[in-house]
Amino acid sequence: MTPLELQEIIQGIPKTELHLHIEGSFEPELMFEIANRNNIKLDFDSVASLKKAYKFNNLQEFLDIYYLGAQVLLYEQDFFDLTWAYLTKVHSQNVVHVEIFFDPQTHTERGIDFEVVISGIYKALEKGRKELNITYKLIMSYLRHLSEDSAFKTLEAAMPFKDWIDGVGLDSSELGNPPSKFANVFAASAKEGFKLVAHAGEEGPADYIWEALDILKIERIDHGNRCLDDEALVKRLIENKIALTLCPLSNLELKVIKKMEDHPVAKMLDKGILATINSDDPAYFGGYMNENYFETAKALKLDKNQLMQLAINGFEASWMSQDDKVKHIIAVKDYFNTVN
Ligand code: HPA
Ligand code: ZN
Repeated sequence: MTPLELQEIIQGIPKTELHLHIEGSFEPELMFEIANRNNIKLDFDSVASLKKAYKFNNLQEFLDIYYLGAQVLLYEQDFFDLTWAYLTKVHSQNVVHVEIFFDPQTHTERGIDFEVVISGIYKALEKGRKELNITYKLIMSYLRHLSEDSAFKTLEAAMPFKDWIDGVGLDSSELGNPPSKFANVFAASAKEGFKLVAHAGEEGPADYIWEALDILKIERIDHGNRCLDDEALVKRLIENKIALTLCPLSNLELKVIKKMEDHPVAKMLDKGILATINSDDPAYFGGYMNENYFETAKALKLDKNQLMQLAINGFEASWMSQDDKVKHIIAVKDYFNTVN
């Protein structure tokens, strides 16, 4: 396969995205546009100088810039524009289903109402469903560097919008903020009918993945790279069909791996883990879904069967109905039958 052939194959695969922070899809150009119209002065004088700052040695260095960028988002229209830009971009990459995170506390902590944030996001998602045929789920993510009490306040603020939210997640600074810190708010979220996911094993140890499973009772792990350190954990993931939402370019940019050739996804597929490919924060890490598939496939020399398996896993691990999963998986298989 030449790089061009690989790119073309990837473009045509019907794809899901299951690990995407909407604030992480904030492209510098749109950031400047919104900052201008909101009369906010960014610390950078051009798109180019902002992009130059996108060099990270670890998760925290990224988070510091990511939270800074989100500060220009003030009004419902800003959240709408952010989400709509993401949807049109992934539509061009043949992504047909998305399950996206938003971080309410990033905004409520600076005085923006929960309603403003979720209304903009929700309206764009609905427009995408109607006009782009992209189905979606929305996941509210608690910031783990803040207290459990703050997460409880977020859960309370979400109650009037319960019907728009499908699940809750856990993100931000992992080390020192283990899943167990949020045991009570995850139990309360489950009682409200939300599905549960959590970032675990990105920088943190395999123990955090165990905690997410056994204490938070999550049904899908975001990242989970470190599971390969623990054979019993791998067995558990396989037996219980716990999916991992891996983000290869994110891992590279945040130095979770030294080079793409070290990415564990091929090993995970070999073992029968339900591994999926996602973009995490595409505006910061140099690529959306296609670029994540492409860089991974190129470095690990993935064959067509592995690419097909990754795409199927995305639908399998999603929260769409069983009937819809079957329909999409058939479409993936049909597509690969046309690719020689
Ligand atoms: N990890 C933790 N928190 C995050 C991430 C991530 O990759 N992206 C946005 N918030
Ligand atoms: Zn993430």
